Amino acid sequence: MQIAVAAARAGGAIVARYFRDGVEIRTKESFNLVSDADVESEHMIAETIRREFPKHAVLGEEAHQDRADSEHLWIIDPLDGTNNFAHDIPHFAVSIAYYRKGEPQCGVIYNPIRDDWYLTERGQGAWYNGQRVHVGKQKLLTEVIIGTGFFYDRGKMMESTLDAIRELFQQQIHGIRRFGAASLDLCAVGCGSFGAFFEYELGAWDFAAGRLFVEEAGGRVTTCAGTPLPIGKSSVLATNGELHNAVQQIVAKHLPQSK
Ligand code: IPD
Ligand code: CA
Ligand code: CA
Repeated sequence: MQIAVAAARAGGAIVARYFRDGVEIRTKESFNLVSDADVESEHMIAETIRREFPKHAVLGEEAHQDRADSEHLWIIDPLDGTNNFAHDIPHFAVSIAYYRKGEPQCGVIYNPIRDDWYLTERGQGAWYNGQRVHVGKQKLLTEVIIGTGFFYDRGKMMESTLDAIRELFQQQIHGIRRFGAASLDLCAVGCGSFGAFFEYELGAWDFAAGRLFVEEAGGRVTTCAGTPLPIGKSSVLATNGELHNAVQQIVAKHLPQSK
């Protein structure tokens, strides 16, 4: 945990500096952006971890592709919310998780602009800026806000997400939010602001830390089909637990095949 926090602080400092000073944004593939901030942050985080644990594997979005089935695995999103970052919206985070034998052990999600820390450790709960947090207690869809995201897609997946949103609105939910950083969306479920969050495609780095945060806050996380999350590309549904079946039925109905 200590190393994860040190790595997040170091990566976050790089990201915050580039946010202040400006940086050239490039397009990776359709609408998926990247900058030197993402790449430098990932190298800094990986170096900080490897200084302490030279034999551990690292899986990062930009530059580290070790095997996902390694016994000791660190999963890094060096800048989650790059689109917000690129458009001067200070809602993004560094996300770091440590997995042992395929199971999440600890996670850190850090917004360096707000200096917001979301920490979690297996069996130790979920903590937001030093305060223990829990998912909401709502039992009805009519009582909650639901978060979502669209991946980088302007086709079937975007249409399916909109269909699911329409159906959720028909259940008289309080509202839909699309804030643009999946790791922070998961934290919003853990802190009780969102009753649920779903997205039809995410990378392991987007949810590796956030899923443990939700679970340790008392919530439930599965794929949108209701199966256990893999360490890899997947749909994700996180809820306060109470609402899992109700939201899952709706998001599963619109789930694009094989997500
Ligand atoms: C993205 C964000 C966004 C989600 C996308 C992710 P990135 O991560 O988490 O909220 O909708 O699917 O890819 O590219 O900013 O690290
Ligand atoms: Ca991400
Ligand atoms: Ca990223």
